[in-house]
Amino acid sequence: MEEKTIKIDRMEFEILISNKKLQSRIGELAAEISRDYEGKVPIFVGVLNGAILLLSDLIRKLTIECEIDFIKISSYGNKRVSSGQITMIKDFSADLHGRDILVVEDIVDSGLSVTYLKRRIESMKPASVKFVSLLVKKDCAVVPLTIDYTGFEIENKFVIGYGLDLAQKKRNLNAIYQVKE
Ligand code: IMP
Ligand code: MG
Repeated sequence: MEEKTIKIDRMEFEILISNKKLQSRIGELAAEISRDYEGKVPIFVGVLNGAILLLSDLIRKLTIECEIDFIKISSYGNKRVSSGQITMIKDFSADLHGRDILVVEDIVDSGLSVTYLKRRIESMKPASVKFVSLLVKKDCAVVPLTIDYTGFEIENKFVIGYGLDLAQKKRNLNAIYQVKE
């Protein structure tokens, strides 16, 4: 079992989604994706660093063949509020042309990262592009966007764990924790 609350400096966090709940929901997403992509071999593109835990758990629950690739973009730095400025730090390695692409994100907040990635991937002429996000913050998107596979909708509060960081730390927590206000 996970800790119910954790303290980091003067901040307090409380558990929001246990690992058991994460795994069960990821299992449902994997089943849905496996059905939708039956007979296809999609490329799962993990957005570093936050999506690594979701990607590794998700692909092990699939019943279809898949390939993986990674990209790294920055929008936050070590700040808690998006700068809105997105830069590519590590580009795609795979050739996306004519392929089915599933972008795997940890969380969608303003939606600016997803919008940037969608435009960039579409310019590479894939057969299709869809988005998976473990978490989506409610009423946050500053741009209209569609997340095809959402794990959980959450309140607009800062969360850490299971890939999500606080100034690069705490990604290795086994559950999702939300800041207590
Ligand atoms: P967006 O471009 O505003 O949608 O931001 C998405 C990125 O910001 C995510 O991929 C995360 O890396 C980061 N992010 C947004 N909200 C949080 C949070 O509550 N905790 C940790 N990282 C976050
Ligand atoms: Mg991220």
